[in-house]
Amino acid sequence: MPSRIEDLLRRRSETQRVSEERARTLHEQGKLTVIERLNLLLDPDSLIPIGRYVLHRATGFGMELRKAYGDGVIAGLGSVNGRRVAVYAQDFTFMGGSVGEMHAYKIARTIETAVKLGIPVIGLNDSGGARIQEGVDSLKGYGDIFYRNVMASGVVPQIVAILGPCAGGAVYSPALADFIIMTRKSYMFITGPKVVKASIGEDISTEELGGAEVHASKSGVAHFVVEDDREAVNLIKKLISYLPSNNAEDPPFLETKDSPYREDPTLDSIVPEDPAKPYDVREIIGRVFDYESFLEVHANFAQNAVVGFARLGGHGVCVVANQPAVMAGSLDIDSSDKISRFVTFCDSFNFPIITFVDVPGFLPGSFQEHHGVIRHGAKIIYAYADATVPKITVILRKAYGGAYIAMGSKHLGADFVLAWPTAEIAVMGPEGAIEIIYKKELESAENPEELAKTFVEKYRNEIANPYVPASRGYVDDVIIPRETRAYLYKLLTFLMDKREKQPRPPRKHGVPPV
Ligand code: COA
Repeated sequence: MPSRIEDLLRRRSETQRVSEERARTLHEQGKLTVIERLNLLLDPDSLIPIGRYVLHRATGFGMELRKAYGDGVIAGLGSVNGRRVAVYAQDFTFMGGSVGEMHAYKIARTIETAVKLGIPVIGLNDSGGARIQEGVDSLKGYGDIFYRNVMASGVVPQIVAILGPCAGGAVYSPALADFIIMTRKSYMFITGPKVVKASIGEDISTEELGGAEVHASKSGVAHFVVEDDREAVNLIKKLISYLPSNNAEDPPFLETKDSPYREDPTLDSIVPEDPAKPYDVREIIGRVFDYESFLEVHANFAQNAVVGFARLGGHGVCVVANQPAVMAGSLDIDSSDKISRFVTFCDSFNFPIITFVDVPGFLPGSFQEHHGVIRHGAKIIYAYADATVPKITVILRKAYGGAYIAMGSKHLGADFVLAWPTAEIAVMGPEGAIEIIYKKELESAENPEELAKTFVEKYRNEIANPYVPASRGYVDDVIIPRETRAYLYKLLTFLMDKREKQPRPPRKHGVPPV
């Protein structure tokens, strides 16, 4: 073999080398090496590297002697179950996966290339953050990545798995992506426990501060929590199977054996007769959409709302629902953020949005008010009104006040609104309403409880039912719950070709209440 080719082969093998000792340490920590991760994610031999022989060019602090091909990140193009993607994977074994100028250049170029090609970007992050020795060049590198993230937003899906540390400025690239998956051992924070202790005196562990559990349930930063690297990769593959490659494509179609016209009589009795009784809206979602097709997003965060991807007759759709089993399904700050962001994502990537409504209203109280429930709640209204994809809303039970309007009502541009016979649509629930409009009568009544019952019945008959809004055209049809799947499917087949007709005033962009 000619010596130059031998030389090339030697260099090439170095680009994928992880020292045995470092690999062992990773394995002991329950992690995989960067190569193992990519081998699991990508179809065999599909990787076309970007900047394989890139080296950093930093000097000082002994950096001249610390070089490795690739500069701690493998980047490139490849395929995942036949779907083309752009991918970068940070190698913690080289300088802690830290991001210097050239490392950042590779990531930025990967995102830029993904936008040019109209393919999703996948990041496998495992990094100690900005490379300290490279100072401002490393910060410049992050800035370049963030800029590309923003340019890619709404053009190609961006998915980031956090498989190790993610601290300081490093958090913002994932935060600008569409989906964050965290393994149980990973963590994300702006400043670590030591700095927190030094600056504000708070004692807190890494896990409590920025562990996967916290971000999946409290902050909402993480959309999914998985056990380990392997699960993270499997989830990425699953997520990709729902997503179009870019904003000019429709979501992928997946043939199903589940007849779109299947009726499910169980649906007729899921919503309890007693409006005060809870039920799990996921049971309805599970029965309406293609068998086992629902992929819940943000499952542990703001559980009073449920959002996720599903398929109906094989067509990818987004599902948004109130969850009466948690806080009676009322909307609050977190659920407003969860719903509005999901609706905006779905609109960007051409997913029809199917909304199930059972909402008593926005959550009252000083905490919510002082933390801006008005501002956050407005995001839902903005997102639905702004969305031009097919929008179908099914009112299951309560749909009261501003929350009724916000949850994909006809007034915000829903293409079709259906109601189950159990729907109650009004300014407020009967109990609250009669106390206001019949205040004097109830105060002077000999038997106020009996009178209240009569008024509640009158209120239900004359106001809080599906037929009054249907008589105004705000509800297009009242349907038997068992018909829901077939009805939605039929609607979807018409609405899929929908083009938003109403002209919108020209503008650079709106100013959403973020
Ligand atoms: N810049 C340069 N090198 C870094 C780095 C960074 N930001 N983060 C980690 N490294 C290097 C370490 O010097 C070490 O090098 P070595 O192999 O030559 O000893 C290697 O990466 C592994 O780091 P180590 O600290 O031994 O690993 P750990 O698992 O014990 O801890 C971290 C990981 C991320 C918690 C720790 O490295 C850390 O706190 N890094 C800085 C995080 C930070 O604040 N970054 C700034 C963000 S803007």
